[in-house]
Amino acid sequence: MIDKQSPLPIYYQIEKDLKDRIERGEWQEGHMIPSEREYAEHYNVSRMTVRQAITNLVNDGFLRRQRGKGTFVASKKIQQKMVRLTSFTEDMKQRNMIATTKVLSFTLMKADSLTAALFQMNEGEEIAEVQRMRLADGLPMALETSKLNLRLLQGITEKVIQHSLYDYIEHTLNLKVGAAVQKLEASVARQHESALLQITKGSPVLLMTRETKLKDGQVFESVKSVYRGDRYAFVMEMNREG
Ligand code: GLP
Repeated sequence: MIDKQSPLPIYYQIEKDLKDRIERGEWQEGHMIPSEREYAEHYNVSRMTVRQAITNLVNDGFLRRQRGKGTFVASKKIQQKMVRLTSFTEDMKQRNMIATTKVLSFTLMKADSLTAALFQMNEGEEIAEVQRMRLADGLPMALETSKLNLRLLQGITEKVIQHSLYDYIEHTLNLKVGAAVQKLEASVARQHESALLQITKGSPVLLMTRETKLKDGQVFESVKSVYRGDRYAFVMEMNREG
C-alpha cells in the first residue's frame, strides 16, 4: 500500500511492494508484472515514479524487461561462495549449468614492467592477453580479460582457452593451481561491455580482479572480470576465530 504522507519516497514504497510479492513467492519466476500505466493508475502516481521503482528492481536483478513484451520476474541470482578457489567452468557445473566460452581476442604481446614484475620475467618477454565471454546455459555472465604467463602455461592457443583454463593447467600440463588474491568492486558497464553482456550502458556490474599462483608460488594469470550485477552475487563465509 502506498502512503503519500510517509517520509519514504513513493518509488521506494512501490519498489518494496513489488519486491515483497517476489520474495513471498506470490509472483514466481517468469510472472509478468502489471504495466507502468496500470500501476500508475492503480496507485494514482506518475508513470515516472513507477518506472523508477521498476528500473531499480531490474538493476538489482529482481525483474527483467523484455522489449515489446513487458516486465517479468527474473530468475534468482547465481550465488557464488568465496571459499574455495574455483574456475568459472566448475562454478557453473556445480549449479547444473553448462559453461561455454566465446573467445573475443587472443593476442601475443610483450610484458610491460608491471606484468613482468608480477610474472617474475623480463620486461618485453612474451605473454598472452585473452578476452573471453563466459556464458552459462547460453546466457552471458561475465567478460574476462586475462594476462597469461606463457613461461608457465605452455601450449596455450586460442583453441585451448575456448575451454576451461584451469582444467588445461591441471589435467594437460599437470600443474597445480594454488592460491589467488581476489578483489571485488562495484562498477557500471561501459559501452562495449554492455553490448557484449547484453545489458544497457551504465548498468551495475561487479568488477573482479584475480591474480592466481601455482602451488609453487609462481603467478600464472592476472584477470579482470566484469560480471553482470543482475545475475551474480558473491557470498562470503566468515569465521570469527583464526
Ligand atoms: C574465473 C576467474 C578467472 C579464471 C577462470 C578460469 O572466472 N575469475 O580468474 O581464469 O575462472 O575458468 P575456466 O577454467 O573455466 O577457464
